[in-house]
Amino acid sequence: MSNFKKRKHDSKTGETRLRLGMQHDDFRNAAHTLVDRIIDYHKTVSERQTFPNVKPGFMRSLVPDQAPEDAENWPEVFSEIEEVVMKGLTHWFSSGFFGFYATAGSYPSMLGELLTSAIGSIGFSWLSSPSSTELETVMLDWLAKALDLPKFYLHNGTGPGGGVIQGTASESTLVTLLSARDKAIRPQLSIDPNQCRHDINKRLVAYTSNVSNSSVEKAGKIAFVDLKLLESDEMGSLRGKTLLDAIKEDKKNGRIPFYVCATLGTTACCSFDNLEEIEPICEKEGIWLHIDAAYAGSALLCPEFRFIAKGLECSTSFNFNPHKGMMVNLDCSALWFKDSSHVINAMNVNPIYLRHEEMGRAIDYMHWQIPLGRRFRTIKLWFVLRMVGLDGLRNHVRRGIAEAKHLEELVKTDERYEILFPVVLGLVCFRLKPELLGNKIANDENEKLYEAIHHDRRFFITPASVGGKYLIRISTGSLNCSTAKLDEFWKVTREITDKLLTKNKFTI
Ligand SMILES: Cc1ncc(COP(=O)(O)O)c(C=O)c1O
Repeated sequence: MSNFKKRKHDSKTGETRLRLGMQHDDFRNAAHTLVDRIIDYHKTVSERQTFPNVKPGFMRSLVPDQAPEDAENWPEVFSEIEEVVMKGLTHWFSSGFFGFYATAGSYPSMLGELLTSAIGSIGFSWLSSPSSTELETVMLDWLAKALDLPKFYLHNGTGPGGGVIQGTASESTLVTLLSARDKAIRPQLSIDPNQCRHDINKRLVAYTSNVSNSSVEKAGKIAFVDLKLLESDEMGSLRGKTLLDAIKEDKKNGRIPFYVCATLGTTACCSFDNLEEIEPICEKEGIWLHIDAAYAGSALLCPEFRFIAKGLECSTSFNFNPHKGMMVNLDCSALWFKDSSHVINAMNVNPIYLRHEEMGRAIDYMHWQIPLGRRFRTIKLWFVLRMVGLDGLRNHVRRGIAEAKHLEELVKTDERYEILFPVVLGLVCFRLKPELLGNKIANDENEKLYEAIHHDRRFFITPASVGGKYLIRISTGSLNCSTAKLDEFWKVTREITDKLLTKNKFTI
């Protein structure tokens, strides 16, 4: 620590400091201490309480009201990491974290993040960062091949398809919805150029299931598009007949159905929309079919799980998050278009300062996304694909699914609980049986069970409600998840249930 130079501004060294924030050698030393700290964090993260004992507003007492006028030294900042950052964290990498869907990460990915921020290159156009654009193009082809996606999604396929990295699945859905909207409006305008785009927009209608991720509904709100949440069946799956009935009814009323977002691996219960039924309908009706496989997409790395994506051949766009199941840190959401001209038509604006001499011969990813600026996110993906390898990633996916199967078996051994949805990938949805509680629904009782486990603080879990049934969902497959930890979780859950039952705490 004594190596660190005093951080008061002086005119001789000040310029370097002002340019890079600290001296080169100070950075070298600081980075080493930080890397050591990161390794220690990862070695011991599971010993920490998964969710901290903090209340909203706790940070105000830990940091000053305003930024310091004078630069502070790294040791001072470093010494506060524990208090300010770590103590108030939900530790997603902890072995006791089973909430939402697992976060992804790995040392290769962290190295990639470091290099990305060091380079600081902003790759909105080919000119602004040729390597960033071209590595992304190749990596998206690598990924498409690794997942065995239809060939039309490849950049170097025969058609106009290709992939792009978005920040999140939410952005991917929004971008595809906006592209589909543009594609739907253009022909209407060519029939009658006097029509107003807003009048056509009012007639457009999009569909998704009532179990799809909330981000789909949000995309509809942002795009100001009427997006209908269609009833899924009892397995949480959107069926062809439901979609067809909705389309017929809307067309009868002069509406223009133009977009369907089908989900592979819903957030609430990891259910799968019936693509084999949905796709022929979309194809016949000329409707854009977007596939949201944010979580489940990583499973396509493994041939034995590709059955979940049967019928992908007629999709118009496909998205999944390597930042969920593929050991790449957020943000890395891979999105493919069958025909990229639609997104380019929808997003392209062309001021002089963004033009360059290779335009038309090279990809300009600014036309494939909402923001202008974009980080060189492909580096971390490239590092992970090379340093973990497809075989290593398949093992990672398989391990997470095997953990879910392990928990499923544990739940099945106690007849007080029921599994609500088939355990296909790394998610187990269970609840206490209503019969046990002499109650038809038992939602309040299961909510109490969830709250008791949550307040116990040893495990982080997430509830959901599907078809009016409150359930507890356990997401496996995070970096440090293990069957031993799931055994521990199950023991604690049963003990908490015993207590609630004996103390009659379930009585409402
Ligand atoms: C099926 C599905 N779609 C979309 C999302 C949103 O993902 P993101 O946070 O990348 O926007 C999630 C998040 O869990 C998801 O499970």
